[in-house]
Amino acid sequence: MTVLEYLEDNMNEYLSGQVIADNLNMTRANVWKEIEKLRQNGIVIEAKTRHGYKLISHGPYISKSYLLKALEAIKTIEIVDSCTSTNDLAKDGNHDLYITQHQTKGRGRQGREFISPKGKGLYFSLNVIPDFTTDHVPLMTICAALAVQETLFEYLGSKVGIKWLNDILVDNVKLCGILVEGDLELQTMTFNKLTVGIGINLYKTDEHEFTSLEDHTDKEINVHMILIGIISKFQAYVNDLGTRKTEIIDKYKAHSIVIGKNVTVKDKTFKATGISNQGHLIVEDSKGQVHELNSGEISINYEN
Ligand code: BTN
Repeated sequence: MTVLEYLEDNMNEYLSGQVIADNLNMTRANVWKEIEKLRQNGIVIEAKTRHGYKLISHGPYISKSYLLKALEAIKTIEIVDSCTSTNDLAKDGNHDLYITQHQTKGRGRQGREFISPKGKGLYFSLNVIPDFTTDHVPLMTICAALAVQETLFEYLGSKVGIKWLNDILVDNVKLCGILVEGDLELQTMTFNKLTVGIGINLYKTDEHEFTSLEDHTDKEINVHMILIGIISKFQAYVNDLGTRKTEIIDKYKAHSIVIGKNVTVKDKTFKATGISNQGHLIVEDSKGQVHELNSGEISINYEN
């Protein structure tokens, strides 16, 4: 066990250097050195004479041990300082979860870049083994979007909405994007694994035009709580898809900022009326004819 793990197990309690040293079979000098290293990573550890050390908060530091303890279904995590894209790492790797705070080639849908400046956001990808065919892939995005919406709602309140299919907006400006990718097995039309990538803008930056959590709250931004909230909710929704699909889609609809609005798709205007059981957007054209959209980009006409 490391000093950090020991402090995490006894969070909010004072532990004397001697107790830590005895329990971890280290010298007190080495305990002190370890504590200094943790502090250099931004972890807040209080030291009080005659009481000892107390872990106050992880600050911006992302702790693998803390996440593994909180997320039962996640068995392996890789955390990197920087990468091209966590979706690339996840697609090439076998860990359940990849996390970074900087991507050099963050990807969005339709070949767009997802700008991921260092220390300004939280970028992570989950590997999911699906047990369904291609038809149901949009449902993964729906589960992820709902999990993000509900977690961020705890921070921001009622302002968080979902723009079909994969964007989370606050006051109509994008805060988070979701990209689900997988390699299709053509013979069986199934995916061996799906990678669910989520990017959240945490802090203000001039590097993109989107909004950030910091723009909308004075609360401390706790990356562990965000990760734990989103991942645990996402996994619960995915597990329940077989039995509670309609209920999950209804929840998604309730947070949708698209339903009831006029949307433009490839220069044609439709009225968005619902979400199908496959996660497709149901729209009506000017003649009242109903269509289902399963991909592509919509733009919303907010004035309508
Ligand atoms: C979009 O806005 O169209 C989707 C953006 C998805 C961004 C996330 S960040 C983590 C993962 N890695 C990527 O390169 N993209 C996703």
